[in-house]
Amino acid sequence: MTSLVHASRHVASRGTCLRSSYVEISRFFHPRHHGITPNRAATCSGRAIRCFSSLRCVRDAIEPDEKLRKTLDDFKASIRPTPWSSLFENWGQILEAGNSDPKIEICGYLSTRRDVNKKLSFTMLRNKQQSQCIQLVSSANTDGQGADAHARLRSLREWTPVVVRGTLRTRQAAKSDTHLGMKLVGDRELAVEHVEPLNTISDDVVIKDDTVFGPDQRHLQLRTDAELRENIKFRAESVAMTRLKLDAAEWNEIETPILFKSTPEGAREFLVPTRQKGLAYALPQSPQQYKQILMASGFYKYYQFARCFRDEDLRADRQPEFTQLDMEMSFAGEEDVMAEVEQLLRELWYELRGISLPETFRRMTYKEAMASYGSDKPDLRYEAEIYDITQHLTADLIGKITPLQDSTIDAFKIPISSDPKTTRKFISSFLDSPDGKPYLDNPAGQPGIFIGDLAQPMQGLGPLGFPFVMEGPENLSISHGDLLVLQARPNAPLSGGSTVLGNLRLALYKSAITQGLIDPPSPHDFRFLWITDFPLFTPTNDTDPGQGGAAGFSSTHHPFTAPKTPADVDLLLSDPSAVTAAHYDIVVNGTELGGGSRRIHNAAVQEFIFRDVLKMKQQRVEDFRHLLDVLGSGCPPHAGIALGWDRLVAVMRGKDSVRDVIAFPKSGRGEDVLVGSPNRVTGEQWGMYGLEVKVKE
Ligand code: AMO
Repeated sequence: MTSLVHASRHVASRGTCLRSSYVEISRFFHPRHHGITPNRAATCSGRAIRCFSSLRCVRDAIEPDEKLRKTLDDFKASIRPTPWSSLFENWGQILEAGNSDPKIEICGYLSTRRDVNKKLSFTMLRNKQQSQCIQLVSSANTDGQGADAHARLRSLREWTPVVVRGTLRTRQAAKSDTHLGMKLVGDRELAVEHVEPLNTISDDVVIKDDTVFGPDQRHLQLRTDAELRENIKFRAESVAMTRLKLDAAEWNEIETPILFKSTPEGAREFLVPTRQKGLAYALPQSPQQYKQILMASGFYKYYQFARCFRDEDLRADRQPEFTQLDMEMSFAGEEDVMAEVEQLLRELWYELRGISLPETFRRMTYKEAMASYGSDKPDLRYEAEIYDITQHLTADLIGKITPLQDSTIDAFKIPISSDPKTTRKFISSFLDSPDGKPYLDNPAGQPGIFIGDLAQPMQGLGPLGFPFVMEGPENLSISHGDLLVLQARPNAPLSGGSTVLGNLRLALYKSAITQGLIDPPSPHDFRFLWITDFPLFTPTNDTDPGQGGAAGFSSTHHPFTAPKTPADVDLLLSDPSAVTAAHYDIVVNGTELGGGSRRIHNAAVQEFIFRDVLKMKQQRVEDFRHLLDVLGSGCPPHAGIALGWDRLVAVMRGKDSVRDVIAFPKSGRGEDVLVGSPNRVTGEQWGMYGLEVKVKE
């Protein structure tokens, strides 16, 4: 390599053209094979330069037409010999600069232009951060280059990036101190003497104030939507702040591989074929196994902003690739991790949002969350709690509510309005809308709707009967205009993430807020809570691949989660479905922000769970052999958590979708329509991996 550089310098210094220097270089390395004398090959002969590379290709010089010549000239004009930082940087100092040196050169994007007449125009210029703007004045009556600059400015489209030279001068005080949301330099303007456009904007790009750009023009969404850009910048700030806090608290940031192996951890993986036939990597669904290996490697506190990949169905809060703040501690259990996370979240919310969170967060068991809110991630900003009212209803009434033989009837109350007519209209229109359809189609029966009405016998609750009115839960006692909703469900332990009534509770709150019947929650209201005591195992379902064992159930989170108590360890033998996990989820305002657990740190117990409890096939157990070996090397007890960073930033910014805080999110179909991914791979490309793919049309 040294001799290559040396040779190239040597040749160039003799004044030969660049292409001929390549020839010299190739001669330097392969003099015998060419069979031509270097001097002959190296001549530059006028327009048609013929040169010979080491590959012996021959290429005629390109004769530019007028359009290409102009394109290249424009491009050359955009190349600055001096650093861009020599341009006037801080527009906040424009005032002071005006006092000392009124001639300045600045860059930015052209904004709106007002043509006063043919000879006079006012154009706004945005700075490169799009935080400030200044008025440019151009006139055809200016001496020297000013008239050319005026003509040029009028020929350029809004959003053209430019360098502008001119003289700062006092302007008539601006009517507003902002322009399109940017701070306006209000007492100075720039009398333009020279404008240099730095690029063109193709004709099919139309950018108006009210243009709504699709995801295929994400760059224009980002460029023109200040709030979206702020979200992305806020995200960067949140990451930088977190690193500072964690580094100060003895956490080490450690990267783990992205090319991992396929293991039945729980989610569906993305595979990466290799050129070694039949072998593939898998992208990590999380760095779970590597972080446990780090604990066995003698690290104390590990963290990582980790990219994770899951081939799962997408929703507003899910992406196929997403970022976690992944953490793990050795010689630690649930309480240690929860305390560290509370501390971090308190600091972040205080420093980035100016909000003080409580010293310790509320805790709720999974069973309580499911029973009282119909969700394992309850949104505590909405107060209505769910009560089991089965015992207060007659068998006859229950028979009218549900076709189920053995059922539980739950109910909640929401004060929608003080006028029963308004409440009736609200609930009828909700149930008639597409949002209401799933509740009407519920095989366990439609929701029972009652509206508090003082003009009716028993305030409108007559059909529920005396036992309910007299002895039902006090929190369901009804006022004029209140909405009471009943719903049947099979009489079985609650499982999964939510119940039908839990979903209906949220949907009704959201609809009532949209219609202005209920005040929206304050954007400063963050209700954090820990959900604990999840079941360690959940019946196998069609959507999650689980561990593929034959037990009829899979790990609720992942198979490395430890049973919570010694009694739970014993239950592994007798009744795995009753085992409580040492797992905790951190939830805020109805969003599952993160989840973690104490892990099984003993190899024999881990293997027992894989083989005897989950009943995984031997081959799949062997996929985890690396982990079992590592645990068996004296791995200390350890625990950890992962916070979904996309969700955390979305919650902090008050956004419903993680797409609003990701620069390049995937669509609901897992596509990036800007770049066109995923794209179809040719047969030849598959062939390189020893694969043949038959695509069904
Ligand atoms: P879990 O699977 O619960 O745990 O993920 C942790 C957190 O990551 C976020 N998250 C997602 N965010 C966006 N898109 C997705 N598809 C997505 N999936 C999950 C959520 C979730 O709470 N290894 C364990 C953690 C541990 O046990 O330490 C894990 O990944 O906010």
